[in-house]
Amino acid sequence: MNITVIGSGYVGLVSGTCFAEMGNRVTCVDIDPLKIKKLNKGIIPIFEPGLETLILKNVKNNNLFFTTELRDALQNSVITFIAVGTPMGDDGSADLQYVLTVAKSIGQLMQKRLIVVDKSTVPVGTADKVKAVIQKELDLRSTDLQFDIVSNPEFLKEGAAIDDFMKPDRVVIGADSEFAFKKMKELYSPFFRSHDRFITMDIRSAEMTKYAANAMLATKISFMNEIANICEKVGADANQVRIGIGSDQRIGYSFIYPGAGYGGSCFPKDVKALTKIAEENGYNAQLITAVEKVNDAQKLVIAQKIVKRFGEDLKGFVFGIWGLAFKPGTDDMREAPSIYVIKELVKRGAQIKAYDPKAVNEAKEHYLKGVKNIEYLDSKYDVLKDSDALVLLTDWKEFRSPNFEKIKTKLKMPIIFDGRNQYNTFNLKEKGIEYNQIGKILK
Ligand SMILES: NC(=O)c1ccc[n+]([C@@H]2O[C@H](COP(=O)([O-])OP(=O)(O)OC[C@H]3O[C@@H](n4cnc5c(N)ncnc54)[C@H](O)[C@@H]3O)[C@@H](O)[C@H]2O)c1
Repeated sequence: MNITVIGSGYVGLVSGTCFAEMGNRVTCVDIDPLKIKKLNKGIIPIFEPGLETLILKNVKNNNLFFTTELRDALQNSVITFIAVGTPMGDDGSADLQYVLTVAKSIGQLMQKRLIVVDKSTVPVGTADKVKAVIQKELDLRSTDLQFDIVSNPEFLKEGAAIDDFMKPDRVVIGADSEFAFKKMKELYSPFFRSHDRFITMDIRSAEMTKYAANAMLATKISFMNEIANICEKVGADANQVRIGIGSDQRIGYSFIYPGAGYGGSCFPKDVKALTKIAEENGYNAQLITAVEKVNDAQKLVIAQKIVKRFGEDLKGFVFGIWGLAFKPGTDDMREAPSIYVIKELVKRGAQIKAYDPKAVNEAKEHYLKGVKNIEYLDSKYDVLKDSDALVLLTDWKEFRSPNFEKIKTKLKMPIIFDGRNQYNTFNLKEKGIEYNQIGKILK
């Protein structure tokens, strides 16, 4: 099938590449000429495990193309995906300007019947807006070309995106025409080898499903973080509580590790957008609002622990940071807890030495650009030299079983603060290391 994917970011690039891998002819479009130039030279603008190999392979096989020219891309397409960003607007709602700009271009440029699929995360009712914008452009052209609108929210996780896309646990398709359902099933069928996992529904329910899924996961995280904070106050161990409740199948083990709060490109903005969607429709979403508040506070818990240990004024102290990305397996730092922790420490006069296997460029060029007193190093052990304590913020595998003797001898004081969503089973007290973790303080 000929497909166009508009927006070549995390979602667009991964989806486009995976569709190409299944034998489709895919053109990925982006308005960023530099991004497209890089992609056409075989330089992949983001880090996502396995993505580079798949892109290079499919480009070589003539299944995957990159362009800034939407007109050419739409020429032979049966399906076009909208996968542009829907960032948080000033008032917290999803900013639809990119989606609606793309809709307008589609209406201006399409030459034959087209299925327009919204893969971006968008508020309920956006499909109607996209439809109206396209129809308006077609009317201006005095053409009666047909088109279908589909909502196909994306559930991939950065860091495991290829696997998630290739082996989805469900594909949600919201449509209102049999033709659209049929074509979408045709496109996705190769991804299901044993049994299909299509969930078909009306468009509004599909749009809402994405927000409901992210809000549920964010709720689990904030819930557990709140429990962990209470555990510390009452002298309980949040990890034991986690195991105690996770064993209940109705609760489950996933997403209940205490940590420094959720970040990333999706949870923060989607939780906020959902409260806005509710508000605009006359409903006060109290639980979802609280989830966000708990998370905002949680991002500073590690910094507060450091202040409690070293004092309000951190001038003269150096902290070694392991982990900048919002989670392992990605270079994405959008809303990463590391940004908040580092800024708070620097504000109090501290110096930072930081290491991350993938996200250092993102930090330097965007998220910590202009923040003084940060030095980036290429090795995790180098950041410990002259540092007063180690602060762990991303659960990269290479931090799971470090050389504690080395940590102890390199640090000025053998102190670790751990904000990862992970539980360390090492007995660090026995190793002479002071270990401060969210949910429990072990001295
Ligand atoms: N990143 C994730 O893990 C994830 C997961 C599921 C859903 N989503 C949703 O998918 C959408 C895209 O997210 P992302 O992380 O891939 O965003 P991104 O910012 O990485 O990529 C968006 C791309 O769209 C391009 N773009 C903007 N306007 C354009 C236009 N008019 N024509 C062509 N290209 C244009 C940008 O240049 C950019 O390259 C968002 O709605 C997001 O909420 C993201």
